[in-house]
Amino acid sequence: MGKRKIGPKRRWKNNKKPKENVWRPKEEVVRESPLFEEYYKLQKIVPEGEWDAFIECLKSDLPTTFRINEADPNYEIIKQNLKTKYHFEGTVEYEGQQISCVHPIEWYENEGAWQIDVHRKKLRKIEAFKELHQYMIALTLSGHIGRQEAVSMLPPMFLDVDKNDLVLDMCAAPGSKTLQILEKVHRSEGNGIVIANDADSKRAYLLTSHLMSNHIIVTTHLGQLFPFLRFDDAEPSSDPTICQSSVFDRILCDVPCSGDGTLRKAPELWMKWTLRAALTLHPLQLAITLQGLKLLKVGGRLVYSTCSFNPLEDEAVVMALIQRCKGAVRIVDVSDRYPKLRRTAGLTTWKVADMENNVYESFESIPEEGRKLYRETMFPPSEAVCREAHIERAMRFLPHHQNTGGFFVCVLEKVRDIPRSEKEVKEEEKEEEKPEEKEKPEEKEKEEKEEEEEKEEDEEEEKEEEEEKEDEEEEDENDGELRGLTKQARSTAEKFHNAMIPWNKEGLEQIKVFYGISDDFDWDLLYSRSANHRVLLCVNPVINKLCITSKTARKLKIVNTGLKAFEFNTRRGECSYRVCQDGLSIIRKYMTKRVYPVCVKDFLHVLETQKKSALMEEFSEATQALLKNEAIGACVFELDEEGKKTLSAKWPAFKHYFDELCCCVWRGDKCINVLMTETDIDTMRRVLLME
Ligand SMILES: C[S@@+](CC[C@H](N)C(=O)[O-])C[C@H]1O[C@@H](n2cnc3c(N)ncnc32)[C@H](O)[C@@H]1O
Repeated sequence: MGKRKIGPKRRWKNNKKPKENVWRPKEEVVRESPLFEEYYKLQKIVPEGEWDAFIECLKSDLPTTFRINEADPNYEIIKQNLKTKYHFEGTVEYEGQQISCVHPIEWYENEGAWQIDVHRKKLRKIEAFKELHQYMIALTLSGHIGRQEAVSMLPPMFLDVDKNDLVLDMCAAPGSKTLQILEKVHRSEGNGIVIANDADSKRAYLLTSHLMSNHIIVTTHLGQLFPFLRFDDAEPSSDPTICQSSVFDRILCDVPCSGDGTLRKAPELWMKWTLRAALTLHPLQLAITLQGLKLLKVGGRLVYSTCSFNPLEDEAVVMALIQRCKGAVRIVDVSDRYPKLRRTAGLTTWKVADMENNVYESFESIPEEGRKLYRETMFPPSEAVCREAHIERAMRFLPHHQNTGGFFVCVLEKVRDIPRSEKEVKEEEKEEEKPEEKEKPEEKEKEEKEEEEEKEEDEEEEKEEEEEKEDEEEEDENDGELRGLTKQARSTAEKFHNAMIPWNKEGLEQIKVFYGISDDFDWDLLYSRSANHRVLLCVNPVINKLCITSKTARKLKIVNTGLKAFEFNTRRGECSYRVCQDGLSIIRKYMTKRVYPVCVKDFLHVLETQKKSALMEEFSEATQALLKNEAIGACVFELDEEGKKTLSAKWPAFKHYFDELCCCVWRGDKCINVLMTETDIDTMRRVLLME
């Protein structure tokens, strides 16, 4: 199940205050930019007569929105609670504004996303929302809901992921959209996998900490150079005129952008707004998405999205892609999807301007000295060409239409293989002519040493940066996006970056016998990240085949994948490895020993033992009898038949969840202890008590 984790509460390090000018209260921010207004009036992104409403909305705070985890057994209960316990009639007044109670976002399917029409920082200050605010914090901490801006939910909705799809998320961090995609795969218990990639390796490491699932692999590549992947048993095409397609059914390109669609969320951007960001990002957006289209399967779907209003980052990129792909890619008409969602059509023409909003009619008309920032692809093709490509099928979401941020989404489908450009053919020929460079071991060692030294230097810098970020993060700690690994965990991960070490299988027989692992378990799915093999990760078979063992996988820079299945024992016990909670969703079905069905009362009691171990006699006689002659070591508690029946009768929709519910426990000499984190325990208790 997609799960989020929250880092520890931040304090000033060494009582050091943040540097001057690091943070300004939002009230001081001037929400105005004549350049911005002039530029977008020129671009005509807002329908006639709506400009004032657009600007007024853009200057106001963003409402609080969140999404319920789709794969969560408490999904319906949470919805029910929001509709009853936290519902009130009429409105409450705050700062002259009339605010109604929490309500579902009308265009989101199955009431899965909710909104309160007040900024999240104000929520806690309003008496009528205090209890709801507490509830939301608890739900966020245990992964039942995730705060996410409403428009940021759109790209995965239009990606239309099927449970068995192979999905690539090209620019995934901090991961709210990846999570949304993963939840779809989990909800329908499919065999789909998601490769979550981000060029920024630190942001990619953060991703691994809160996306815990057996269906995900996190990688770190420049999207535009994401390596070509293929299963070994698939035949490559022998046609030299086309770009080889890879295996992906779905690709999300939520590219880095100037971000002026987030002005409501980040009002400090008003004062920084210039056209420069859009100009510099256009070529990168184009390169990332072109690579995405090449990697997409024929018949596959790619969603291109930005949180920018700028046609240079939006329509211009899409049109350049359409033209480059020469009929191999089309814009999909999704106007019938989500009828309650208001959108404006993609523009059929736009302007390219300088920093003072003087318009250039063509690339050639740009003075030589200023050309560096510009590309020919920024200029609109003729309106006829745009219409033929159906650029109007692209969608711009404007804040004042449904009280959201701004976003651009375009759904693309690959209808046939993409022809190779002349440049690509030439580059490839050059590549082939080069003698293969074999890395000498001593050179590699030197490189690694240099990298290590660089890392140490970076760490000092990073320390300062982190201190600067601290107050920001404190504010954001519950907003579902920025949750960090501890520094130690991060540096460990960095050290073993890219290494999935096959388990040396020392101790295999012992594990097999102790837990009665059945013969159909594939031991080759167990990997370690370090030579001491203390932690064994169990990897998804499709991920293993495509991303670890295939010939093409050699180039893949893996940050992390797999769930912790076994860990070396530090306690006394007959088996040197204990089974781990994270991996139980995979390992449990292969265990024929050390799984004990217990009543609901005992199950709830064992969950309390994280704080204080329980003596054996605190459990029912039936449980004591089950454990009496069992060896010291890890084992698993699951609900007994009676418990499953009672709970399933109460909540029939979650029968399968209760059937599979289990927790890792340490059977000591006289005591019992649960082997789970506090967050996991809280989640499980909430499900059992249906809170
Ligand atoms: C708009 S954010 C993505 C947000 C993310 N999809 C989400 O929903 O949480 C853009 C991301 O692109 C990453 N990025 C920047 N340049 C990149 C590149 N060349 N290739 C891949 N990712 C890149 C950034 O590190 C950043 O995390």
